[in-house]
Amino acid sequence: MDKWRLFLKKMSLMACYTNRMVQIMCITVFIMFVFQFYKYLQASSPSRQIENCNCNLSDNSLDTVALRNKARIQRLCNTCKNWEKQIEINFKPKASEYLINNRYKLVYCKIFKAASSSWLYNFNLMAGYNTSYINEFITDPMGLIRKKYFRPSFFELKRANRVYTSFIIVRHPFERLLSAFKDKLECARDNNKAYRRLRLLIKKGRRGQNPGAYLRNCTSGPTFFQFITYVIRMAKINRFNEHWEPVWSFCTPCFFEFDVIAHVETLQEDADYLIKHAKLEDVIKPQWRHKSASQTKDEAKKYFSELSQSQIKDLYNIYRQDFEMFGYSVDEYLYHQR
Ligand SMILES: *[C@@H]1O[C@H](CO)[C@@H](O)[C@H](O)[C@H]1NC(C)=O
Ligand SMILES: *[C@@H]1O[C@H](CO)[C@@H](O)[C@H](O)[C@H]1NC(C)=O
Ligand SMILES: *[C@@H]1O[C@H](CO)[C@@H](O)[C@H](O)[C@H]1NC(C)=O
Repeated sequence: MDKWRLFLKKMSLMACYTNRMVQIMCITVFIMFVFQFYKYLQASSPSRQIENCNCNLSDNSLDTVALRNKARIQRLCNTCKNWEKQIEINFKPKASEYLINNRYKLVYCKIFKAASSSWLYNFNLMAGYNTSYINEFITDPMGLIRKKYFRPSFFELKRANRVYTSFIIVRHPFERLLSAFKDKLECARDNNKAYRRLRLLIKKGRRGQNPGAYLRNCTSGPTFFQFITYVIRMAKINRFNEHWEPVWSFCTPCFFEFDVIAHVETLQEDADYLIKHAKLEDVIKPQWRHKSASQTKDEAKKYFSELSQSQIKDLYNIYRQDFEMFGYSVDEYLYHQR
């Protein structure tokens, strides 16, 4: 790097003798180079955010929802600190999944299968689309979203993150996984070509492996067991579909700050708190405030009881960071074994 910079400097100095115009250009280029290099250094230093985050809770004038929110922020912060040593050198922040609304000063990392459809709806509203138009795209809100919300760069996101209300909605990792399975694969409800192919791929060559088969009606899709076998296999080479990619790698929350960490499990309260916090009472329609998945815990336990002990453990290891960052427990799933 040093040699290269010296060389650049020499070259620019030589060129600069030619005339004044070129001189000015060279200086500009050099300044830009230094600036870019500084930005690069900033981006490649994963500990920066973790150092800055304030883990000190000393506010005692808050109601229970606000206190719970603070505790969640602190937990995320502490978990990130503990991992600081373990984070791989080339683990980079990922800004591309975040949505920034400049008008309402809002930052959101959309996590699929965690109340994302209602918040994508809300972000479409906030982008100025009318409701009838949004409803035409109700099955594909991302199509509309990306016309108004471009994928931010790390620096754009950092800037917005500091001054806007930033939030994330998370969910028990296993329940999110099940929700993705049911929505995308199980009953072939999603007729998208990519998922048709995925369903076939997961089923292929695994016809015999069909224990339990809690699902009797949907013979078209793979079983939950087949799906999990596939997820675990792909996780070994770090491949995830966006609908079940762990939050720690999808949103890289350790690089950013959040004002509100909502849980699907407590979404009513959390969404109200967020809406109040961000002053969105007049923007977001009541019917879209706390839409959430209808899947119950008992149902989830039934599905997971079809898996083996080692599959549950493998899954836990894949999502361990999500469990820890957001304070979820795997225990109740360990006791429901075949
Ligand atoms: C946390 O807050 C308390 C009370 O405001 C203060 O005494 C303490 O020094 C703070 N700790 C840190 C690490 O900032
Ligand atoms: C809603 O928006 C669409 C597209 O911008 C437009 O064509 C339509 O006329 C609008 N409808 C109403 C009721 O404003
Ligand atoms: C399964 O099939 C039965 C009989 O066709 C039907 O009554 C039932 O509603 C179906 N259940 C689901 C979950 O689709």
